[in-house]
This record gives sequence, C-alpha cells and structure tokens, in this order.
Amino acid sequence: MTRDDLKREVAARAAALVEDGTVVGLGTGSTATFFIECLIARATAGLNIACIPTSERSAEQARAGGLTVVTFATHQTIDIAVDGADEIKRDTLDLTKGLGGALLREKMVASAARRFIVIADEAKLVDWLGSLCPIPVEVTCFGWELTQARLRDQGAEITRRQTAAGAPYLTDGGNFILDARFPPIADAATLNRTLRAFPGVVETGLFPAMAEMALVAGANGVATYRPSGFP
Ligand code: A5P
Repeated sequence: MTRDDLKREVAARAAALVEDGTVVGLGTGSTATFFIECLIARATAGLNIACIPTSERSAEQARAGGLTVVTFATHQTIDIAVDGADEIKRDTLDLTKGLGGALLREKMVASAARRFIVIADEAKLVDWLGSLCPIPVEVTCFGWELTQARLRDQGAEITRRQTAAGAPYLTDGGNFILDARFPPIADAATLNRTLRAFPGVVETGLFPAMAEMALVAGANGVATYRPSGFP
C-alpha cells in the first residue's frame, strides 16, 4: 500500500462518521483532500450536509464537488471537524499542524467543533511534538522581526516560510509563517500559551488536547487512538 492508499483508507473511515443534516469542518492538506473527496461522493448519493472549510483550497474543492459551503456568519457550531496533522503525540493526541499553512482557520474550526477527529497515516505518530517538524507560527507581517526575536528567546531556531519562487509565504489571512524548530516539546499546552502571549503572534500550530480521536492508517489497517484522560 502506498502512503496515499493509507490516507484514502483513513479518510473513508472518517467520512463514514458524518451524519445527515450536520455541519462539517473540512480540513486542509493531502489527507483532508481525500476526506473531502469521500464526502462529495456521499453527498452525490444523497447525504445532506453544510461545510465550513479551513482554507480557500478546501473551499474550492468542496464547491467544485457540489458541497454546500457555509460560514460562521450563519453557523457557529460545527458537529464534526475532520483534519490531518503533521505530528500526533500518541498518548495525549496533542498535535502539530500548519505545514500546509492553514493553521489559524484549522484551529478556529476545530475549536468550534463538538467532535474534532484527526486522520493520518502512521508516519505522523510521535512521542514528542517537535521531533518530525518545526512548529508553524502565524505572525503579523508588521514587526515580524521582533516576533522572530521573541521566539528565538524561547529556544527556537526560526525560518520564515517562503514560496517555491523565494517570496515570503502568505497565509489565507495575509500573514507570515515562522517555522520554529524547538527541542522536543514536553508541554505543548504551556508552550502554546507562552507563544500566543506575544502580540505579533496570530496563532500557533500547536493543538493541545483538542482532538477527541485519531484515526491512524498503517500496514495492519486503521487504528483508533483516544487521548488518555479524555472524557
Ligand atoms: C495544513 O495547514 C496542515 O495542518 C495539514 O493538516 C497538515 O499539514 C497535514 O497535511 P497532510 O495530510 O498533507 O500531511
């Protein structure tokens, strides 16, 4: 099985959890793209849902497939949100997200969801956040150098994200992303709070204790992870 096969399998599992008449948060990234594909297939077969996407990319895919796209202007509660992740801490389900650049909308949608479900292949499981990738931090363009210095003071090595053409990468919200490489992170909730307290930080890619469940595809099928201590 290829990695895409694993992503497809886990996406189909998550799509099967979506019930008729619900509001669904649509994630961003390659795994979420497969999830949206599955939802489009289900909607074509009669499933009636309203969707809030976490990026312009996902919104475009959803609309092109005939899904009903709504916003927080009319729907402030999401029944279920499904998204990928860049790292999943296997015991707590703390997450790193945002390598795809959509972390702010992803966090807003996840926080408004009654159920937030993560889908991934097993390569994303880690013992410590920060072991596979940097933590993306969305920052205002104004004064980003100051914010960068603040993050460095916290022990991170910083790279400002760039496009393939070498221009500064801009999020859907028009902000920069600083990719912050920390030593393995023992306490994601505390680091998230610390970073968010700096005025130039818009949001961080640390998602501590937000996921109800992770569906993780591997060679032996799809495993379900739940955070220890989750009610
Ligand atoms: C998007 O901003 C990210 O948070 C994605 O959810 C994350 O990068 C996972 O993407 P893949 O499914 O492509 O690995």
